[in-house]
Amino acid sequence: MELLLSFRCRPFPLAFGSVSSLIIISFLSCSVFGAKRIPRNETDRLTLLEFKASLSYPLGVLRSWNTIIHYCQWYGVTCGPRHRRVTVLDLQSQNLGGIISPSIGNLTFLRVLNLQNNSFHSRIPPEVGHLYRLRVLHLNNNSLDGPIPPSLSRCFNLVILHVNKMNELFTVGIANNHLGGQQVGGLNFLCTLTNSTKLESLQFKLNNFEGNIPECISNMSTTLMTFSSGENMISGGLPGTIGNLINLELFFVEGNNISGNIPSEIGNLARLKQLYLGRNEFSEEIPHTMGNLSKLIHLSLRSNSLQGAIPSSLSKCQSLLLLDLAGNKLSGAIPPEIMEISSLSIYADFSSNNLTGKLPMEVGNLKNLGALLLQDTRISGEIPSSLGSCIMMENLYMQDNLFEGLIPSTLSNLKGIQELNLSNNMLSGKISKFLEGLNLTSLGLALNEFEGAIPIGGVFRNTVVAVKVLNLMRYGAAKSFISECEALRNIRHRNLVKVITACSGTDSQGNDFKALIYEFMVNGILDGWLHLVVETIEMEEEAPRQLNLLQRLNIAIDVASALDYLHNQCNVPIVHCDLKPSNVLLDDEMTAHEGDFGLVRFMPEATKESVVDPSSSISVKGSFGYIAPEYGAGGDVSTHGDVYSYGILVLEMFTGKRRTDEMFTDGLNLHLFANAALPEQISQVIDSFLLQECRGMESSSNNIRSRRHRNKFQKIQECLVSIIRQGVVCSSECPQDRMNVADVAATLRVIQKELLQAVNQ
Ligand SMILES: *[C@@H]1O[C@H](CO)[C@@H](O)[C@H](O)[C@H]1NC(C)=O
Ligand SMILES: *[C@@H]1O[C@H](CO)[C@@H](O)[C@H](O)[C@H]1NC(C)=O
Ligand SMILES: *[C@@H]1O[C@H](CO)[C@@H](O)[C@H](O)[C@H]1NC(C)=O
Ligand SMILES: *[C@@H]1O[C@H](CO)[C@@H](O)[C@H](O)[C@H]1NC(C)=O
Ligand SMILES: *[C@@H]1O[C@H](CO)[C@@H](O)[C@H](O)[C@H]1NC(C)=O
Ligand SMILES: *[C@@H]1O[C@H](CO)[C@@H](O)[C@H](O)[C@H]1NC(C)=O
Ligand SMILES: *[C@@H]1O[C@H](CO)[C@@H](O)[C@H](O)[C@H]1NC(C)=O
Ligand SMILES: *[C@@H]1O[C@H](CO)[C@@H](O)[C@H](O)[C@H]1NC(C)=O
Ligand SMILES: *[C@@H]1O[C@H](CO)[C@@H](O)[C@H](O)[C@H]1NC(C)=O
Ligand SMILES: *[C@@H]1O[C@H](CO)[C@@H](O)[C@H](O)[C@H]1NC(C)=O
Repeated sequence: MELLLSFRCRPFPLAFGSVSSLIIISFLSCSVFGAKRIPRNETDRLTLLEFKASLSYPLGVLRSWNTIIHYCQWYGVTCGPRHRRVTVLDLQSQNLGGIISPSIGNLTFLRVLNLQNNSFHSRIPPEVGHLYRLRVLHLNNNSLDGPIPPSLSRCFNLVILHVNKMNELFTVGIANNHLGGQQVGGLNFLCTLTNSTKLESLQFKLNNFEGNIPECISNMSTTLMTFSSGENMISGGLPGTIGNLINLELFFVEGNNISGNIPSEIGNLARLKQLYLGRNEFSEEIPHTMGNLSKLIHLSLRSNSLQGAIPSSLSKCQSLLLLDLAGNKLSGAIPPEIMEISSLSIYADFSSNNLTGKLPMEVGNLKNLGALLLQDTRISGEIPSSLGSCIMMENLYMQDNLFEGLIPSTLSNLKGIQELNLSNNMLSGKISKFLEGLNLTSLGLALNEFEGAIPIGGVFRNTVVAVKVLNLMRYGAAKSFISECEALRNIRHRNLVKVITACSGTDSQGNDFKALIYEFMVNGILDGWLHLVVETIEMEEEAPRQLNLLQRLNIAIDVASALDYLHNQCNVPIVHCDLKPSNVLLDDEMTAHEGDFGLVRFMPEATKESVVDPSSSISVKGSFGYIAPEYGAGGDVSTHGDVYSYGILVLEMFTGKRRTDEMFTDGLNLHLFANAALPEQISQVIDSFLLQECRGMESSSNNIRSRRHRNKFQKIQECLVSIIRQGVVCSSECPQDRMNVADVAATLRVIQKELLQAVNQ
């Protein structure tokens, strides 16, 4: 016995570095109220010092284990109030390393030993078997290895009595070590626990246990509520006697190598809340008895080899929050009954199975569901519009299936949706504009049969999303599509839309499909800026968008630069063949990029000014109104054809008239219309918006400076005449009369300079 100071309050958790600071803090924060004799057990004191001596440095909190303080005040030590024997040793998460000293076996009053989340290595000393009062043993998250000492069964025998009497939880927590090994019979230690009639929690995940789950598991106490043996190397089947563990609430064996069927006796586990059988080799069918598990909240059977149909009885699991059947060989349709599990909220994952049939329209009952994963199955038919009732949905993965028809507009109700992937289906129609209104962080639409323009707002404006321009059947005949795309991938110009990738394949009906994936352009197509678009009913009314004179000129120069690059600066001259305002895309700075190389032709050097391939010239369709007249007459593909289209494009940009305007009848066309106005009547043909812009400049002039401003207006008009003239010459009937686009680009740059000077006068 010795005299020691005693403290009114409990010592601090001593997360301090040194002894001296520790003591000072203890004294400062606690009032010393007197001295008292405290009994001391020399065995416990020496045992703890031996335990400390077997640790590797740094000692951390164990610095407090010194002779100045009574061992019952040492960090992590709790003693019985009277006998002052150590009853609890709790040193979890203290960064301790070294071995667990065999002397631990001398702490015979120990009830709780918690060494979890440290770096103890080597084996569990067999002397732990001496701790016959032990009730709680946490050794998880260390680097222990070797077998579970069989002596543990001795200590458990005695503990049972104690636990029984104290009515306390008995936990064996030895997870996340390297325990196990076949040499000691793998999981047979489980059988040593069968006398532990109060065992409630058995956790040994993340070890290296091999071998079968022994039959004796059935003799484990029916008090067992937690069985967690995930991430080991357990093999063999799951014994049907598992059904005896009627109080089981969590059964977690993910990440082992368990095979055979899921025993139907599993349906007896009426209190089961979480069942994780994923990543094993379970095969055969999911037992119908699972429908008995009415308390089940998590069910994961993912990544097994389960076959057959999804049992409709699962619909009786009305507490399920999470259903994961992904990565099996399940077949047949998803039973509509499954969609009655309205509790489902976390996620439902059916992906990567061999499912067929339609997505049941009852899916709309899953009003709480946060994520639905259906990718990579063979589900077909239309996407049910009821899906729009799943208003809590955040992630919807439907890619790699056989969905067809339109994207239902009801999906616009999914206000919380973040990720939507519909790639690689057979969806058709327009890409619905409502998608703009969803707050998506990711959208996959590639490899469908969509047509028409891509919406330009919302997600389509987004740092991260690559909008995919999709396969179009009209390319069907292009033989060397992929090699052309490969070539396009290698051509780079600031005024060409960057082709990110190209895809080709065969759809379920045996049709070839081909898709180009372009860089996304925020401001959409030039066509939409030139002509007020009132296209579809679902499109909300948009304010007319207008480009000013300088913007139009810049765009004309951008397009000419791109053509110049294609025609004159690539290894092989490239003819675009489909130049028109809807193939010119505008980025966030209104810089123009030429896109859609679907009809592009490569011209071998030798035939630079003439045909590529005699057979290809007849397949050139181009677009009505922009295609050069000689193509219509069976003429050869050449760069002159592009220049014609370019001329029409320029005229369209500056006159604001479509090539197809109803005024162009009886032999009148855009070319003749513009040509006739040169040069005096120019204001008769210029887009009225541009005229207003010019007149604005004129009327803003006051009397004093009117002369200068008249000059300015005249200069601007001269520029307009020059621009229109470029358009007229480029769209000449006869190919030889057209200019080389390099000269056009150069001329337009000169005009640009003059215009800037005039405007800034
Ligand atoms: C602890 O027990 C071992 C036997 O397991 C014994 O050799 C050792 O001396 C004991 N230590 C103390 C401090 O009593
Ligand atoms: C495990 O221990 C480390 C310190 O070694 C600590 O940072 C971490 O929070 C601990 N983890 C848990 C779950 O207690
Ligand atoms: C186990 O250790 C890892 C890594 O230090 C840590 O992230 C985890 O929280 C620990 N778990 C427990 C239960 O202490
Ligand atoms: C279980 O207890 C019985 C006596 O009740 C004993 O004979 C048997 O050896 C114990 N089993 C184990 C594994 O300790
Ligand atoms: C389980 O316990 C019963 C008695 O309750 C016994 O007959 C049987 O042999 C035990 N089975 C195993 C595998 O230990
Ligand atoms: C899993 O078990 C099967 C037999 O069921 C065996 O052939 C296979 O080697 C095991 N795999 C591993 C990784 O242990
Ligand atoms: C368990 O499920 C089976 C098959 O679905 C059924 O026949 C049986 O009545 C169920 N048992 C209970 C206790 O609900
Ligand atoms: C998928 O199911 C079909 C029948 O629906 C069957 O013919 C096919 O073999 C199954 N494929 C796999 C990989 O199980
Ligand atoms: C859109 O989603 C982001 C991130 O998911 C969130 O921060 C933002 O508030 C959302 N915006 C709207 C309008 O819901
Ligand atoms: C959509 O799914 C496809 C196929 O799994 C994948 O390649 C693509 O990256 C996904 N798209 C998005 C935007 O997540």
